[in-house]
Amino acid sequence: MPTATAAPARPATTAGFPKPSNLAINGGTPVSKAGVPFMQTALTESDINSAIAVLKGGMLRAAKKCEELEVRLGQMTGAKHMMTCANGTCALQLAYEPLFQAGDDVLVPAWSYIATASMIVARGANPIFVDALHDTFQIDVADAARKLTPNTTAITATHLYGCPVDIDAVQALAAKHSLKVIYDGAQSHLATYKGKGLGTFGDALTYSFYATKNLGTGEGGAISCNDDALAAQIKALRSHGETDKYLHTQVGYNYRMNDITGAIGCSKLDRLEADTNARRAAAARYDAILSKINGLSAPTTTPGAVSAYHLYVVKLDPTHFACTRDQFCEALKAEGVPTAVHYPRSLTRQPAFKKFTDAQGHPPIADSLSSMVFALPMHHALSDDHIRAVGEAMEKVAAAYRA
Ligand SMILES: Cc1ncc(COP(=O)(O)O)c(C=O)c1O
Repeated sequence: MPTATAAPARPATTAGFPKPSNLAINGGTPVSKAGVPFMQTALTESDINSAIAVLKGGMLRAAKKCEELEVRLGQMTGAKHMMTCANGTCALQLAYEPLFQAGDDVLVPAWSYIATASMIVARGANPIFVDALHDTFQIDVADAARKLTPNTTAITATHLYGCPVDIDAVQALAAKHSLKVIYDGAQSHLATYKGKGLGTFGDALTYSFYATKNLGTGEGGAISCNDDALAAQIKALRSHGETDKYLHTQVGYNYRMNDITGAIGCSKLDRLEADTNARRAAAARYDAILSKINGLSAPTTTPGAVSAYHLYVVKLDPTHFACTRDQFCEALKAEGVPTAVHYPRSLTRQPAFKKFTDAQGHPPIADSLSSMVFALPMHHALSDDHIRAVGEAMEKVAAAYRA
């Protein structure tokens, strides 16, 4: 990490880092007084009216609205079967349970949200943590191949930040070693790979509809697949293993959605494509901004993929700056540009997985990303002014902290 000696032109601070006086964090004028909203989760009148219509009907269980959401999202993503459920974590659990067994070794990205791996552990299987690619930050399939064991039966891969992984590589590895493939699509609604919806690929794909997701219903999730028998199994598991009225052929759960959630999901689905395109347009403008700032870069997009840009993540190369990532983000915040870190630690640094990681160690790229990345404001309602403010703030902070 650079110290104050790396930046002799600027006044030193008590922390040993420069303290440029033009920055808002040091008393200068902020780029945006109003601030740029980090996310936009407001419901429209039609979202609210859809929920009210269900409330007025009085039957709140999973019914017509959940079914409508399943049919429409399935069609939009190229999946034969779509099954709504309570949230994205339940979706992973419902997908994992029929596809691998307790005691199996299951490959999982070390750079993902905890649920991708924790539901492997909940299944009684062993997560085998795979490194990230240095350019896309997505699962490194060559590293996955190196980590295969005689007990490896499945691979899970997260389309992180909304960007599809190298699906061809995942599928080729899976075909060669007879692995089941589960994609975690919690962040990637309507992303595509080689012109196809993500529901086309793998044994199962899971979604989250958590409040801040591209399709946010508060809580909610779904699993898609293309195999009739697997779909029947997942549906049964979702509802206490029930295959006929009060006939339970296996132990299952109550992981059902409800129709209020389903109605909000259907209403938001009406504009998901337009909202996703707005995210893509904002991302293209961020790309142009970053191309002019040395030391800041975004992960590249997997060849053949079109991202849904749930998040727009930036990597700060510490050799270019006389500050840490956190100091850079604090300065951006003072300029009116909030940021967030996805994620502050890689999964192998989570105490919950110590039992597995003591022996496995820490995949180096995933490990290093945790101190370098931050996410910029990203949503469908970013205006020209917002994007201009983000660009100005980034340029200002980058210049002030230039090493
Ligand atoms: C990649 C990923 N997987 C799984 C989940 C879990 O989804 P939920 O919060 O709906 O349980 C999330 C949610 O943040 C996620 O981002």
